[in-house]
Amino acid sequence: MGAGALVAWIPALVPEFGTGAGTPTPAATPPPSATPTATPSAVPAPEQPAPSVPPDPIAVPLFDRAARSLDDPASLWVVVDKTRPLNPVGYAPTDLVDVPVPHVWSPQLRREASDATVALFAAFAAETGLQLQSQSAYRSFATQVTVYDADVAANGQAFADTSTARPGTSEHQTGLAIDISALPGNCSLDVCFGDTVQGQWLAGNARRFGFLLRYPADKVAITGYAYEPWHFRYIGTELATEMHATGTTTLEEFFGLPAAPGYR
Ligand code: DAL
Ligand code: ZN
Repeated sequence: MGAGALVAWIPALVPEFGTGAGTPTPAATPPPSATPTATPSAVPAPEQPAPSVPPDPIAVPLFDRAARSLDDPASLWVVVDKTRPLNPVGYAPTDLVDVPVPHVWSPQLRREASDATVALFAAFAAETGLQLQSQSAYRSFATQVTVYDADVAANGQAFADTSTARPGTSEHQTGLAIDISALPGNCSLDVCFGDTVQGQWLAGNARRFGFLLRYPADKVAITGYAYEPWHFRYIGTELATEMHATGTTTLEEFFGLPAAPGYR
């Protein structure tokens, strides 16, 4: 079809372009006038769409990734991994409280993390009619020695280093980490927990309460640990929301820190 044929074809199909007769009529050219006058019309002019105004960059709230320390063991954002031991290595929180939730071992956490845990457990029960329990929460340096040594004795050091942090490098020592399982127990501390109703709900909802699934299945090369669908780290709702919004699943990636696949 040539250009001329196209010009003839458009009016035939589109009423706004003409009469449909197939032969366009040249529009009459209005006489030139030095003083154009408004044409009265009974039809009100269509409302103009509001001009699109780009957001003021100063008014957009920016997340401040430097708002809290990543090194202070008492910071909610402290990043602890195989290359970032606690400093001091024997750190113990000063605001530990008993966490009033069902449990295997009596759990303690820092006060804010404890309150968030209670809220999370209550929401889970309300939304599913099922129950959660704490397996393990705060662990002192000395307790982590016992846990790590037992893992090494049972499974060898190479395996233990993919599942249990060496003393002084565990998030459990911050008082901000909790291992959660189903009540009654089902796949406790096993990768199949991720397929349970409890594991699925936690993976999708823990962030609402400020928790992060710290060891995802696809980030072993960054965290240095095998998938742990039961281990949740309290980071506060502000950071948890921002990580979710940006699709970032590890603290190392979010804060631009080196991967920690092994000890230095
Ligand atoms: N299981 C985690 C890595 C810990 O021992 O802290
Ligand atoms: Zn854990």
